[in-house]
Amino acid sequence: MRKKIVAGNWKMNLDYNEGLSLFSEMINMIRDEVTGKQEAVVCSPFIHLHSLVQLSKGYDKVSVGAQNAYQAESGAYTGEISAKMIKSVGAEYVILGHSERRQYFGETNDLLAKKTDVALKNDLKPIFCIGETLQEREANQHFGIIKSQLQEGVFHLEEDQFVKLVIAYEPVWAIGTGVTASSDQAQEIHAFIRIEIAAKYGQEVANNTTILYGGSCNPKNAPELFAQPDIDGGLIGGASLKSRDFVDIVKVFNQ
Ligand code: 13P
Repeated sequence: MRKKIVAGNWKMNLDYNEGLSLFSEMINMIRDEVTGKQEAVVCSPFIHLHSLVQLSKGYDKVSVGAQNAYQAESGAYTGEISAKMIKSVGAEYVILGHSERRQYFGETNDLLAKKTDVALKNDLKPIFCIGETLQEREANQHFGIIKSQLQEGVFHLEEDQFVKLVIAYEPVWAIGTGVTASSDQAQEIHAFIRIEIAAKYGQEVANNTTILYGGSCNPKNAPELFAQPDIDGGLIGGASLKSRDFVDIVKVFNQ
């Protein structure tokens, strides 16, 4: 059955030393307290990646990821970071298409399709983010938006590539606002995403795809969200900056 994952997205927070000490705290707590088969992923700024990978060695429930990667393999793109570089320090995951990248950096579905290809080519597992804005939800366009984000961003992939993805549903109106989607609202979209995946790749692939919820997820609301049949974990922003909160969310999947 599909993997349960709780991924932290630190965004542009924590200097190098702050990041290392938070991560050290987290991995010790995870070692002592996490009892299930779930995986905890920490997606840090590029600056921390190499050190976090080194610290995580021997902790089999913890993986490390980046928050973005460039769409070209290499070249004259001053200031950018390639998928190959991320892979070379031992990171396993990369978040692609986060709504902040779409909103502030103009990332489109077409661009994200290219980023996905390059990430997969370099053996990174993309955590591919989709989600509607408040305006789109109020105009009742959310299903259409989600469908086109999937179709244009990732449905060009062959099945053997698609199965390496994690999908994250993050309604933009729930990110950093303290307003979480209700478990029914989130489940409704997660079920829809799985139906769309089944229509494209078949039921077995759909059943095996991990679909995360993100948006004001915290230790209080995570148990109800993660109890929904199509919610396989979370992508956590603010609460991933506190070791106690993040590990408590990871522990929702304890057995
Ligand atoms: P918050 O948990 O802070 O709402 O952020 C969610 C998010 O954007 C994770 O990628």
